Amino acid sequence: MIGRLAPVVGPEPGPLLPLRVEGLVVEAAGRRLLDGLSFTLEAHRCTVVLGPNGAGKSLLLRVLHGLVAPDRGRLRRADPDPLRRRLAQAFVFQKPVLLRRSVRGDLAVALAARGVPRRERRARITEALALVGLEGFERRAARTLSGGEQQHLALARAWALRPQLLLLDEPTASLDPAATRRVEAILADLRARGVTIVMSTHDLGQARRLAQDVLFLWGGRLVEAAPASRFFAGPEGREARAFLAGELPD
Ligand SMILES: Nc1ncnc2c1ncn2[C@@H]1O[C@H](COP(=O)(O)OP(=O)(O)OP(=O)(O)O)[C@@H](O)[C@H]1O
Ligand SMILES: [Mg+2]
Repeated sequence: MIGRLAPVVGPEPGPLLPLRVEGLVVEAAGRRLLDGLSFTLEAHRCTVVLGPNGAGKSLLLRVLHGLVAPDRGRLRRADPDPLRRRLAQAFVFQKPVLLRRSVRGDLAVALAARGVPRRERRARITEALALVGLEGFERRAARTLSGGEQQHLALARAWALRPQLLLLDEPTASLDPAATRRVEAILADLRARGVTIVMSTHDLGQARRLAQDVLFLWGGRLVEAAPASRFFAGPEGREARAFLAGELPD
């Protein structure tokens, strides 16, 4: 069960989006890992990044979050201020990165690092834990939570930061079907509150349920960028058709 939600004010319609990616190239050891990607992320949409292992999904998310600098090309956000930009984004890793602290402490540190005033932290923590159904876990050591609970905590922490843009790398990869559905419900809820979501997944059912837009990567290239309805009804390229059919392309 998802915790009952107290009414909260969602993020202000922000200056971060749309985010335009132009000619993005990332290279390492003489290999082109991302090869000239160009696309636009519009506000309030959920974009799912699809593609086989090694296609560049995680790398793209890391570039979007500023963890990897592109070798060529650029990211153009509506707001050019780097600090405001950083404050407007949050990232959920495939393996949650949690502090050696209590659940409450983990959230409090993240909020303090973002400059959220002490008096506001408590309310945000309570609300974020309720969102993911972790009420009553405040005093538990974060690292003693189960894998699924840790993923929920990572999501709560991201939401507590009130991001305009939430990036998630395979957020349900290690979750059972019920926990997966709960995370999907949380993500749908966040989107309804105005958060723009970009996530990678290998779960095509999940992509169908959540995505408005699909970015399909193949060998570091963006071979298809389309509304999800069009992509799943019949992608244009042979790579995406083969991928959806679970086959190797000719
Ligand atoms: N820092 C790096 N140095 C060298 N190669 C890298 C680096 N980071 C990623 N790569 C390579 O770039 C390619 C894309 O990696 P990435 O992790 O983005 O794939 P992915 O699409 O997320 O795959 P998966 O579905 O397996 O998670 C891979 O071939 C990977 O080995
Ligand atoms: Mg990956």
